[in-house]
Amino acid sequence: MKLLYWSLLGIFMYEGSCLKTRYDGDKVLKITPQTHAHAQYLRELVNNLQLDLWKPDMVEDISPLRELHVRIPFSHLEETEGKLLHQTIPFMVMINDIQKLIDSSTVRDSKQQKISLESYNYKEYHPMNEIYQWMDEIKEKHSDLVTHHYLGSTYEQRPIYYVKIGWPSDKQKKVVLMDCGIHAREWIAVAFCQWFVKEILANYKNNPVLQNVLKQTDFYVIPVLNVDGYVYSWTHERLWRKNRSPQNNGTCYGVDLNRNFDTAWCTVGASRNCSSLIFCGPSPASELETKALVALVEEILPSILSYLTIHSYGQYILLPFGYTANQSENHQELMDVAVEAASKIKGLYGKEYTVGSSGIILYEDSGSSADWAADLKIKLPYTFELRDNGTFGFQLPPDQIEPTCEETMLAVMSMLEYINVKYLESKAMTVFSPWLNILLSSALCMYYILTH
Ligand code: ARG
Ligand code: ZN
Repeated sequence: MKLLYWSLLGIFMYEGSCLKTRYDGDKVLKITPQTHAHAQYLRELVNNLQLDLWKPDMVEDISPLRELHVRIPFSHLEETEGKLLHQTIPFMVMINDIQKLIDSSTVRDSKQQKISLESYNYKEYHPMNEIYQWMDEIKEKHSDLVTHHYLGSTYEQRPIYYVKIGWPSDKQKKVVLMDCGIHAREWIAVAFCQWFVKEILANYKNNPVLQNVLKQTDFYVIPVLNVDGYVYSWTHERLWRKNRSPQNNGTCYGVDLNRNFDTAWCTVGASRNCSSLIFCGPSPASELETKALVALVEEILPSILSYLTIHSYGQYILLPFGYTANQSENHQELMDVAVEAASKIKGLYGKEYTVGSSGIILYEDSGSSADWAADLKIKLPYTFELRDNGTFGFQLPPDQIEPTCEETMLAVMSMLEYINVKYLESKAMTVFSPWLNILLSSALCMYYILTH
């Protein structure tokens, strides 16, 4: 018994800490190439040292006067800083010691701990086991309004679930679909999906917009799509981005799920090299996680009004497309709604979000889920990239969870208000329409009688 205990503990410690990639002394530098020669030099540097580029995603997108953020391992620091000075490329330190920052924000690795909904802390990041439990508790506590569904399995055979929020109805309901955690290290996105659910459940009784919306619309919320990657970012590498499927006979791991969708797949801003952060996968929708989302969307497609995919680090509300300069048919509508949402964000804590087509304001990319949704003619597809835009990057401190979620909630609510007015029947109409019908048909009858 004792032996079992110690060996379990051993495995646990091994899983929890010894295997973990540490980033002691690693810095994140902000570098701004001034010339084409600088940009070329930096591209080579990043490639040669296989550096972890935080911004932009693609080495090819390093260009003059465009700030880049890159993590330099401690072992390469002196050498790299020396080279930058020598080349007179201006740089500054964005994060001085990434491991210290990680340690100060990962309060605990909670394991066996049982969660309770009453004391669930939405202002901290939660490991996957807690999120699973949380989903369970939510549907138990709100069984009239919330159901819990299996979306599919990940490569490592973890279940992907979503919660569905909305009143039962005989009529065909509309859908607003939201996913979070396509990219493992973007923890704030995962925190937002949970926050969103909590807010809806706390406010639906008193908020007239939500009252109406929940009668005619279901929210499908996938708190973590890339479950394997998310778990891995807790247990092994905080800065992991992709999923965890082995590639190329296990020589590298993971596909960037946001390059894996079947829309202009792997044509621009994506890589066929499996060690790249933006590896598009061996074929379109090759990944189980992608397939699971695709199957759901295809099943309910005509009902989907809006698809929101939540990411982090950049402060953008992105419209399609990333792979072409063409715009959606309703580009102006998409812009208006997003500009309004961004102004709500700005109104709360002053954060500036940039709005526009992703390929134009950010960088070109292909195979993203939002572009795929737009190709399927889903009316309102958006990619949100939440805070920040270059202070902590992926390592957004927990004290920013609350303000980030609050401002994002306002933005999403403004979109729901728009949907309510533009795409749903208003309550007043449903109350009056039977009377209106009777009135109109009597008038028609009278007209008929009088004229015949
Ligand atoms: N930063 C995200 C990514 O690299 C967002 C891309 C959004 N692009 C788009 N076409 N919607 O995956
Ligand atoms: Zn992302």
